[in-house]
Amino acid sequence: MNSIYEPREDSFLMEKSVIKYAFGKVLDMGTGSGIQAITSAKNKKVTSIFASDINKEAVTNTLEVAISEGIPLTVIQSDLFKNIKEKFDTIIFNPPYLPTQEPKELALDGGEKGHELIEKFLKQAKTHLNKNGIILLLFSSLTNKQKIDEILNTNNYQFKEIDKLKLDFEELYIYKINKK
Ligand SMILES: C[S@@+](CC[C@H](N)C(=O)[O-])C[C@H]1O[C@@H](n2cnc3c(N)ncnc32)[C@H](O)[C@@H]1O
Repeated sequence: MNSIYEPREDSFLMEKSVIKYAFGKVLDMGTGSGIQAITSAKNKKVTSIFASDINKEAVTNTLEVAISEGIPLTVIQSDLFKNIKEKFDTIIFNPPYLPTQEPKELALDGGEKGHELIEKFLKQAKTHLNKNGIILLLFSSLTNKQKIDEILNTNNYQFKEIDKLKLDFEELYIYKINKK
């Protein structure tokens, strides 16, 4: 069993961008506690909400929270886009973004160098974005900012840094991304 990621600084930073930028049909990838999916329901520009996580506990929990708060949303268990066919206007991802440490933690482990899961996500996300659709992506200085920029350029995305937060050991960034 994997524990559900309890919202912390990164979650609250992303939440601010979700309130400001999310619109239309939204996917909250790696929903964890469901914080970004539930927050997007408060945004009047949002018309429908999907949430997904590889962790079954997170899926069950997010569904329970949504039902108890009367928020209509669809939640599915999926490894990135494996079980997702739809296209979206907004895809939110506060991913695991740290280089692998032992013991591995599903919510934190972004791959050996920290950016591998994000790279996989960005490759798959292209076919799930509507025209004019956006991705809101969080990562850290520990993920390697230069590498993330390189991955985005290689995959034909344009991007803008829309928020950042300096913490003791890292800096967090939020990018707003769209297809060129
Ligand atoms: C840093 S947590 C963020 C949780 C929540 N969205 C938030 O903002 O607090 C990352 C989440 O991604 C999920 N995750 C990890 N690998 C995944 C994958 N391959 N596909 C989908 N979700 C994944 C984890 O289970 C975890 O819930």
